[in-house]
Amino acid sequence: MSWWQTAVLYQIYPRSFLDTDGDGIGDLEGIRAKLAYLRWLGVDGVWLSPIYQSPMADFGYDVSDHCAIDPTFGDLPAFDRLLDDAHAGGLRVLLDWVPNHTSDRHPWFVESRSSRESPKRDWYFWRDGRSAGEPPNNWLAAFGGRAWTWDPATGQWYLHLFLPEQPDLNWTNPDVVEAMHGVLRFWLDRGVDGFRADVVHLIGKDPALPDQPPELAEIDLVGVHDHPAAHPLLRGIRTVLDCYPGDRVMVGEVNLGSPALLAPYYGAGDELHMVFNFSLLWAPWDAGQWAARIAASEAALTPAGAWPVWVLSNHDTPRHRTRYGGGEDRARVAATVLLTLRGTPFLYAGEELGMVDAEVPDGRRVDPGGRDGCRAPIPWDGSPRHGWAGEPWLPWAPDTENAAALTADEGSILHLYRRLLAARRASPALHAGSWEALDAPAGVLAYERRAGDDVRQVWANFGTEPVECPGGAVDVATGAHRDGTLAGGEAVVLRPPG
Ligand code: NOJ
Repeated sequence: MSWWQTAVLYQIYPRSFLDTDGDGIGDLEGIRAKLAYLRWLGVDGVWLSPIYQSPMADFGYDVSDHCAIDPTFGDLPAFDRLLDDAHAGGLRVLLDWVPNHTSDRHPWFVESRSSRESPKRDWYFWRDGRSAGEPPNNWLAAFGGRAWTWDPATGQWYLHLFLPEQPDLNWTNPDVVEAMHGVLRFWLDRGVDGFRADVVHLIGKDPALPDQPPELAEIDLVGVHDHPAAHPLLRGIRTVLDCYPGDRVMVGEVNLGSPALLAPYYGAGDELHMVFNFSLLWAPWDAGQWAARIAASEAALTPAGAWPVWVLSNHDTPRHRTRYGGGEDRARVAATVLLTLRGTPFLYAGEELGMVDAEVPDGRRVDPGGRDGCRAPIPWDGSPRHGWAGEPWLPWAPDTENAAALTADEGSILHLYRRLLAARRASPALHAGSWEALDAPAGVLAYERRAGDDVRQVWANFGTEPVECPGGAVDVATGAHRDGTLAGGEAVVLRPPG
């Protein structure tokens, strides 16, 4: 198996992690300062949301120089220090790579929009309108409005599936392909272990840019665009990674609704190594729904030889503890499932503290996509600014205990995450074994993991009433597990008897 199949990866949203220079925005030195914490927790690597030079219209997902660090976060020497220290401590580092679009201030786009004759005109999608004042097609952008902006200087429209400040790159142009491969090589040469590829399914487009059919005309393209042109491009990208030693990896964000639609993005083992599966992130708090979605994912991915990826929270969605409501019990049960499924789990920084979303008052909202709540700063200690050098850019989340206090409390959710990570690492069944659903009472999710003689069962009670479950030695329990019984709102990882 490759390292990334047995790993647990941890997403850092750098702005919100830890500020060391006093501007209230997290930075690379802040991440470096917390590497020891991450090793103590027991994760294997980090994915950093974008740290590149950016005007920050979409907080870094609008890149204006792919090979420079934004000064808010630090500089290239600071990045090299972070990478060296991470590697010295056995942690891998994945960067976010944003292939579908750039910032409108990227020199490529500045040149492209300068005239119809610009050699870079065709690096982006410029089209005439279908009639005066009417954009070229009916596509909608992800943050609202049409996916086209009129450029009066050159009298054409340009395409942007996100903000107008994020024009789409034209991957049908081989020069774009070569330039974006060059970006990968720049960071691979520097020693990064891989990438999380932002909305990578969107790079494959029919150059005719046909209208969406009427039944899809009211929704933006991001969740439905699934064009075969992506696949040869992904094979080309994979070839770049494969030229490097050390199993460099790419995990793709492909926002398509069902796991069956994700499997093709693995190709024949020659496209993406992994694809985020959001089916649990989109699931309500319901054991039956979770069981069905896990089974559907296994059924779609296993025969295709596609290694699953599980995730409950990220920087785009309300945190799962907020989504489920209630107390911390559900977050504990969810963590137990997330860290015992077959595949690679991604944690979102702060979930190990049981964080909920911040309530962001109108005057402090900054994100065009309304996602500020899940980007609240991480509280590190009990001081008034929780370890941050400056007043953070977003409000603190309510009801969140700081990391130092949770570290001191062996019964905390933080220690539960640590125990689950340790149990997963120690058990071949958990980090490499098969997965099989078990019969369970209504409201309970149960499954078995097996690798040779190593067997674990996971029982997760989503309901409020106690249920019977097998006895056996307990690896990890979210509460005070009693042999043969599982209380409501509790989960257990056990070795079944005999
Ligand atoms: C997906 C990213 O996760 C999100 O934060 C971003 O706004 C869009 N892609 C556009 O890059």
